[in-house]
Amino acid sequence: MPLSTHTLSVIRSFLTADQANKLRALQASRFRGFQGIVFRLLFGSNLPALAQIYNSDKWGSHWYAQHYETHFKSLRRRNLAILEIGIGGYERPDEGGGSLRMWRTYFPKSRIFGIDLYDKSFHDERRIRTFRGSQIDPEFLHRVLNEIGPIDIIIDDGSHMNEHVLYTFNVLFPHLNPTGIYVIEDLQTAYWQSFGGSSDLLNNSKTSISFLKQLVDGLNYAEFEIPSYEPTYLNTHIAAVHFYHNIVFIQKGINDEKGGGPDLGRQMNFNESNRIALPI
Ligand SMILES: C[S@@+](CC[C@H](N)C(=O)[O-])C[C@H]1O[C@@H](n2cnc3c(N)ncnc32)[C@H](O)[C@@H]1O
Repeated sequence: MPLSTHTLSVIRSFLTADQANKLRALQASRFRGFQGIVFRLLFGSNLPALAQIYNSDKWGSHWYAQHYETHFKSLRRRNLAILEIGIGGYERPDEGGGSLRMWRTYFPKSRIFGIDLYDKSFHDERRIRTFRGSQIDPEFLHRVLNEIGPIDIIIDDGSHMNEHVLYTFNVLFPHLNPTGIYVIEDLQTAYWQSFGGSSDLLNNSKTSISFLKQLVDGLNYAEFEIPSYEPTYLNTHIAAVHFYHNIVFIQKGINDEKGGGPDLGRQMNFNESNRIALPI
């Protein structure tokens, strides 16, 4: 039962400033939990609406929510582990977190995790957990992987430095579930020098976009007229690559003639015991 304003002010008068702040955060988080239920009832499957309600930059500054909806709608009611790199708000502890709450409302049975360079524990709530660390710190990433367990969806909305994006992908992608989805936002930085990108050398191997373009050839590696060609892990474990303006969805799956359907989430039945995707 929520406490009345009067009761709260009496309680606060006995608390230190730090304790009062913690109580305020607790009250806010309980209120947000209630809000989430109302928003889910009204707009549960409408991701652009939820992005606006939660002040996520995935709608308005960018127009990603429509693409997320295309790829996520068949997964909405599943029990997933979702990790977003970059919580938002940078060094301001209580800012950001909008997308984490948006995902929690959109995926009513899933656990939502966030990584940020800064302490974002202010946003820890039911089904939301944050970790402080860098997306290019291998020890940190492995600790996060150990704590979360198998991950179904990873979204990179962190530093957007090309080198970081590729580093994090190479560390985390092998740990994604066999039919998981890896999303990278803000690919415009692949063309910006200040982020390690390039606008004139479009096949510069150091940019995220040129790396991603190679994944397209990897999808068809079986057709290479090179008998001695040894497929890489990425060749055999990526079933689809969907590009949109400034965002890519990389669908993990067995890459052969039968794989790579338009919606692996629906076509595959995930076998929890051996973590192998079985076509149904
Ligand atoms: C664009 S904001 C994220 C917005 C958020 N995903 C959303 O949708 O509302 C980028 C965040 O990434 C964090 N960040 C920057 N460099 C990072 C790094 N190397 N590792 C982890 N997080 C980083 C920043 O502190 C910032 O909060």
